[in-house]
Amino acid sequence: MSTVKRPTRSTELLERAAEHIPGGVNTCRRRSEPKLCIRRGEGAYIEDVDGRRYIDYHAAYGAILLGHANPGVDRRVCEAIADGVLFGIGVTEWEVELARKVTEHVPSVEQVVVCNSGSEATYHAIRLARGVTGRQRIVKFQGCYNGFHDYVLRNVLSAPELVGRRDPQSKGMLDAAVDATLVCRFNDLADVEATLEDNAGEVAAVLIEPIAHNAPGILPHDGFLAGLRDLCDRHGALLIFDEVITGFRHHIGGFQALAGVMPDLTTMGKAIGNGFPLAAVGGRREHMEHFNTNPGGDVHYGGTFNGNTVAVAAGVATIEQLEDGAVHAHLNRLGDRMRAGLAEIGARAGIPVVVGGYGSLFVLCFMEGPLDSYEDVLRNDTALFGAYRRELVARGVFEMPENLGRSHISAAHTDDDVDRSLQAAEEALRAALDAR
Ligand SMILES: Cc1ncc(COP(=O)(O)O)c(C=O)c1O
Repeated sequence: MSTVKRPTRSTELLERAAEHIPGGVNTCRRRSEPKLCIRRGEGAYIEDVDGRRYIDYHAAYGAILLGHANPGVDRRVCEAIADGVLFGIGVTEWEVELARKVTEHVPSVEQVVVCNSGSEATYHAIRLARGVTGRQRIVKFQGCYNGFHDYVLRNVLSAPELVGRRDPQSKGMLDAAVDATLVCRFNDLADVEATLEDNAGEVAAVLIEPIAHNAPGILPHDGFLAGLRDLCDRHGALLIFDEVITGFRHHIGGFQALAGVMPDLTTMGKAIGNGFPLAAVGGRREHMEHFNTNPGGDVHYGGTFNGNTVAVAAGVATIEQLEDGAVHAHLNRLGDRMRAGLAEIGARAGIPVVVGGYGSLFVLCFMEGPLDSYEDVLRNDTALFGAYRRELVARGVFEMPENLGRSHISAAHTDDDVDRSLQAAEEALRAALDAR
């Protein structure tokens, strides 16, 4: 019998795409092994172009909060776009309604402006912080991802020898922008304090994912976020929470509502539009009114597609579904079950595991604990992580097969999905270990 593998439709589609699109994909982290292209999603499930179905925990890097093709969101979007999607003048009722909801729910946000991606949101927030303070430098944290622009694209998943050192993640970045961004250790207030003292009067903002979900789930120690608030106040820097992942996913008021620590500015994205391209920058009125959307504002804010009805209607419809709290209760309960189940599977396999994540997020890492800093993350067994994820995909459970990719539960997942995923996880881990 022939053992020659026939190319899948995913492989063929990617090859065809590569004729016209560099590498065949439109963002750098969409090439997976095994190669997969998806033709439809519904609720908690996705189906690839070969017709195989998967329970989806990738959730488009966390943008899908309510499930794929959520009927409530899609209906509102369809109704809204019947009247046209973009006019480029004034404001629509939809934009006012979205802003009203965001300012009602996110405790530190008195005013908000929308854009189309999380990277735009962090870009604008940093520029606003620079405009307000008249300072140039910012602080970010090793292991955190805050978008693709030159202000922040350094020291994300750094190689061990570059941790905390100068580590731009791309060629073509402006040296001045890279060097204006200082890098501190997550959960290390003394490091932040020393950095602010060494750069006294020069730091415009401290920018942080309040949970380091890109690293891939480091929780803030008790007092860490409050300590940052205090340090920013003492040094005249703005505190920016990058809630692009945590916002609306963990709580309708973002992680700030749970932590009880109020940033000056907040960036939001991903879950706010359940997959539609919506993001936002919000904050205190005294800062937000510097944007030149306001007469006399001195910080530029623009974007042809800002406030388009497709995205904004999706945002309104998504937030509406979060308002009675039932979605978050469901998400958090399933997240707790998943993390506990995975920890038991690791224990039964007799290998050290750490289950990172919070609320609806989880990631099974193959390492000794704790998971408190980026240095800890480097202990993860990369080969086992990849092999395990590929075995999961073969069993119909889609967690992105890339090192340290976090996984996301949506409102459409059920207890039965979690049970079946845990069963698959046990088998996948055994297969990955046997293959070593
Ligand atoms: C915390 C955080 N901030 C910002 C971004 C950038 O968002 P976008 O990819 O929508 O530009 C991301 C994307 O993963 C993110 O995780």
